[in-house]
Amino acid sequence: MKTTAQAPSNIAFIKYWGARDLDRALPCNASISMTLERCFSRCTVEPRPDLEHDEVLFRSAGGELAPPGEHFTLRVRRHLTRLRRATGREEHFRIATENSFPSAAGLASSASGFAALALATTRALGIEPSNGELSRLARLGGSGSAARSVMGGYVEWPAGPEEEECYAVPLLAAGQWDLCDVIALVDDGPKATSSLEGHRLALTSPYFETRQRCVTDRLDAVRAAIVDRDWERLGPVIEEEAIDLHLIAMSSRPPIFYWKPGTLQVLEVVRRLRADGVSAWATMDAGANVHVICRPEAEDDVAACLKLQREVRSIIRDGTGRGPTFVEEHLL
Ligand code: PMV
Repeated sequence: MKTTAQAPSNIAFIKYWGARDLDRALPCNASISMTLERCFSRCTVEPRPDLEHDEVLFRSAGGELAPPGEHFTLRVRRHLTRLRRATGREEHFRIATENSFPSAAGLASSASGFAALALATTRALGIEPSNGELSRLARLGGSGSAARSVMGGYVEWPAGPEEEECYAVPLLAAGQWDLCDVIALVDDGPKATSSLEGHRLALTSPYFETRQRCVTDRLDAVRAAIVDRDWERLGPVIEEEAIDLHLIAMSSRPPIFYWKPGTLQVLEVVRRLRADGVSAWATMDAGANVHVICRPEAEDDVAACLKLQREVRSIIRDGTGRGPTFVEEHLL
């Protein structure tokens, strides 16, 4: 049965950065994220027992469906092979996918993409996995953060201990606490170093162990702040955590610099907004773009101020999302 799933991207408040098993995306530490609403991937999966290989198509912004680059195709095919193995099926697929936002720019398009792929494939095969199993299947695509994109609201992905137990769990549903994420796009091109490479190099940073020691307290603080809907407690920790990720990246050997001049400009603006009484805190995943998190009453001020910045090319106004859905409009 041809099936189309829409899965959201997410922004990590506590980051997955460094894996104990990169192949299976088993993280060194737990992570916590907020699911987004307007940044999402759509994926249509059509089981095709007549095909000898999986066919993969990608639609770039406003464009036609076309075969994507070799690397992307290989990642998708590897994931489909894993999904076949995990579900005991043999048929090949024709799949098409698109993103509602810039791909590979550090906005978690692989998280939403692999979550959508796992959702659409299992549904197309007539399988109804539990949320935990779905999260695990999404994670196995290689983008670990996909594990958090199969549910809405605020989500925690514990580190393990065993592979079978390494799946995300909901912390607080969307609608119980709506936060805004004004994303400042300072660079919408693909990033030079993939997250996969970043995870691998993270362990070479002399500060990696120190980060691992700090992250447990930070996880406790962020989890408690979310459950208690305590904005004053949440904001400072997420910004500190984001700086830490980039500190590890910049001190890896060889170093990785995701930041661009615009990243620093936005970080400075967010500090100035706070000094002027607008409560907003910044976080970045593995890329130059900055997610400015705030409460709904501050969103207009944050958006207006970001738009004025020379280095900010555009903004996306996003917020707490409700999670994946299935849609009737197929891409194929
Ligand atoms: O899921 P991956 O392998 O694309 O890595 C995600 C890395 C970060 O976005 C930087 C952090 C996170 O937890 O989402």
